[in-house]
Amino acid sequence: MTAAEPVDLTVADLHPALGDPALTSMNFLNEVSERYPAAVSLAAGRPYEEFFDLAAVHRHLDTFHRHLVDDLGHPPEQARRLLLQYGRTKGIVHHLIARNLAVDEQITVDPEAVVVTVGCQEAMFLVLRALRAGPTDVLLAVAPTYVGLTGAARLVDLPVWPVAGGSSGVDLADLTLQVRRARAAGLRPRGCYLMPDFANPSGVSIDTAHRRRLLEVAAEEDLLLLEDNPYGLFHLDDGPRPPTLKALDTERRVIYLGSFAKTVLPGARVGYVVADQRVAGADGQIGPFADHLAMIKSMVTVNTSPIAQAVIGGRLLEHGCSLVAANGRERAAYARNMRHLVTGLTRRFPDRPDRPAAVRWTVPAGGFFVVVTVPFPVDDALLDRSARDYGVLWTPMAHFYDDTAPVRALRLSVSAVTPEQIDVGLDRLAALITDRLTGRTG
Ligand SMILES: Cc1ncc(COP(=O)(O)O)c(C=O)c1O
Repeated sequence: MTAAEPVDLTVADLHPALGDPALTSMNFLNEVSERYPAAVSLAAGRPYEEFFDLAAVHRHLDTFHRHLVDDLGHPPEQARRLLLQYGRTKGIVHHLIARNLAVDEQITVDPEAVVVTVGCQEAMFLVLRALRAGPTDVLLAVAPTYVGLTGAARLVDLPVWPVAGGSSGVDLADLTLQVRRARAAGLRPRGCYLMPDFANPSGVSIDTAHRRRLLEVAAEEDLLLLEDNPYGLFHLDDGPRPPTLKALDTERRVIYLGSFAKTVLPGARVGYVVADQRVAGADGQIGPFADHLAMIKSMVTVNTSPIAQAVIGGRLLEHGCSLVAANGRERAAYARNMRHLVTGLTRRFPDRPDRPAAVRWTVPAGGFFVVVTVPFPVDDALLDRSARDYGVLWTPMAHFYDDTAPVRALRLSVSAVTPEQIDVGLDRLAALITDRLTGRTG
């Protein structure tokens, strides 16, 4: 449509978040990959597709149906209704999620504190919508920050206030400083969002001692923590995983956000939130925060598709409610890819006197993402050139910062590619970086 044609609406009259970079970011990245379908994508954080299995989806559904009848004693017509009719707002696999958290994470939680959501994305939205009560409210978030969180905060008019992440995963001195600064400015920090395990995009994890100190700081500053944990199961080594913040939380200070996108199936679009905080109602009654989130959910998605929940529930049941047990193959594939990528970077940028000094990368202990730092700003124009002229996609780290300052880093993802594709992608990325350093490309 040309500018001369009559319009029905203008974006200036719509919610201010529309047009905000946080909301356009994902679309932009998708558009680039659609425009250059032949490019190797080290950008997509999607799960590995080789293990997708349609027959297993049908089996999981049957398994969950049998569970309703045989284990929970529902008459067949009621079991059918539970799967096919509108349903409970907080979900129908909450008891299995609570069991999963006990088995895999040593988190003890009342199933009534669980809300099953349409992906973790809806869980984030519900929590932010509920916490944002007035115009002085802000959300602290460890930077760089997952853009889905920033976008959801925009939609509920909740400013995101960055806290330094650093090599420890969260800079506790900066956290205290920012809480106090916000309060001194008359603002009310409603919580701090972070990802203690293999964060997206930084790849950084928080060690156990630091997790404990973080909980102490949160207690001192009377702060809620929003713990997002989509990648925690995908650790490289075979040692024990550090406890989640929620497992260490003795004060109901942690709101735990979960996703089954990476551990079961992204197409099911099922996630959840554990919100066991006790909320005093206007009538003096006390109930779990989960109930208030459910009230919002009833006006957003009504309930999460019971069919999709049943698929997740069936998979959990088939593995004794352990996603650790269910994800052996996946974990091995991601670990193989991560090692391959890091080795590939070392090979292409060897530690020699002629190595471009400022090309550096993180070596995460797991997860999907590696951050490569380069001595020049990395922006969307460079990504476009990389896709068009070099045939490789990655994500500019600038997308994960909530300002316009130039960022000299890019994110590589190992999740949706084969080792062969990693090799091709890295050859192309190395060519781009070398050309950029030697002035052969602008
Ligand atoms: C950190 C983080 N949180 C949440 C999500 C969204 O999860 P879901 O697909 O369950 O909505 C993602 C997806 O990539 C993510 O990386």
